[in-house]
Amino acid sequence: MLPVPRSGKPSKRDWPADAVAGLIVLVAVLLAFGAAIAGFFLGRDTKHPKATTTAAASTSAKVDPQVAAGGHIFVQFACAQCHGDQGRGGVSSVVPALTNVGSQLTPAQLRHIINHGLGESANPKRPYMPVWGAVISDTQVSDLISYIRAGLPAVPTATPPPVPEGQGAAVKGGVLYVTYGCINCHGPNGLGGVPNPESPDKTVPPLSGLDFRKQFNTDAKVADVIRSGSVLGKAPIVSMPHWGGIIPPDRLNALVAYLKTLK
Ligand code: HEC
Ligand code: HEC
Repeated sequence: MLPVPRSGKPSKRDWPADAVAGLIVLVAVLLAFGAAIAGFFLGRDTKHPKATTTAAASTSAKVDPQVAAGGHIFVQFACAQCHGDQGRGGVSSVVPALTNVGSQLTPAQLRHIINHGLGESANPKRPYMPVWGAVISDTQVSDLISYIRAGLPAVPTATPPPVPEGQGAAVKGGVLYVTYGCINCHGPNGLGGVPNPESPDKTVPPLSGLDFRKQFNTDAKVADVIRSGSVLGKAPIVSMPHWGGIIPPDRLNALVAYLKTLK
């Protein structure tokens, strides 16, 4: 049988145990203090094995906070969905791996590419590097650059949310809406309103509401624009990325199903 937990008041039996524990802590503190003093004097003529301890620390889970932030942003802004996990490529033959750009490009060049995009946004047949400038902050870009220049290491928990299977297309699409970073540009629940100052209506359009439903009144029309992307206004401008060849057909259908559940 499990012992019934006792309430707050310490019983008589607890006192000696507490006293012993207190004594142990006191002894430990004194020992640590003594060791620190001894270490201080010894350290003057013996070399500390500092190099080995820091090397050991960096191979464990510890990651520089800025690099870690960059690793998370790399997932949140779907860089990983186009350029592969940790930028290792393998998603599409027209999206390069990023493993060497940290040494090939300067931080200023990387910043320019992330803010202004790269490639042919007008070509509906192939993906281009989206323009992120209006939706990403300078700090976030700096973090991304640190992450890329650190060699795109594995960052614990910097992974997209698991994709639910067998729970219906709309449920799956709702998660993919985050995985592919749609949410960064179109807002939660497809509400839109994210500033896009260079565009004619100054915001990224909503994926909900009457106007959207009128214009995109069939599944095929919605799927088409996700596949091909769309640039409204003068490039480079924050525009709809080309996802053809990046988002597999079943996932594309799930996204369409999710959008239909919105207001
Ligand atoms: C929709 C897919 C897509 C997404 C999302 C995406 N990229 Fe790209 N990216 C591309 C394509 C395609 C290119 C190649 C463009 C070209 O050269 O024509 C590219 C090029 C680049 C380059 C230049 C590589 C080189 O070798 O010159 C960098 C750096 C880069 N992307 C970083 C990022 C970062 C950081 C993110 C996340 C904020 C990101 N990309 C998100 C598709 C994408
Ligand atoms: C980099 C920002 C960005 C990202 C990421 C993005 N979009 Fe877009 N999207 C836009 C912009 C800007 C437009 C308007 C383009 C235009 O009208 O030419 C647009 C247009 C659309 C449209 C057509 C709506 C209309 O009124 O023109 C749909 C549908 C859409 N996006 C779905 C998605 C989905 C699904 C995702 C994720 C897989 C996604 N978008 C990711 C910026 C983005």
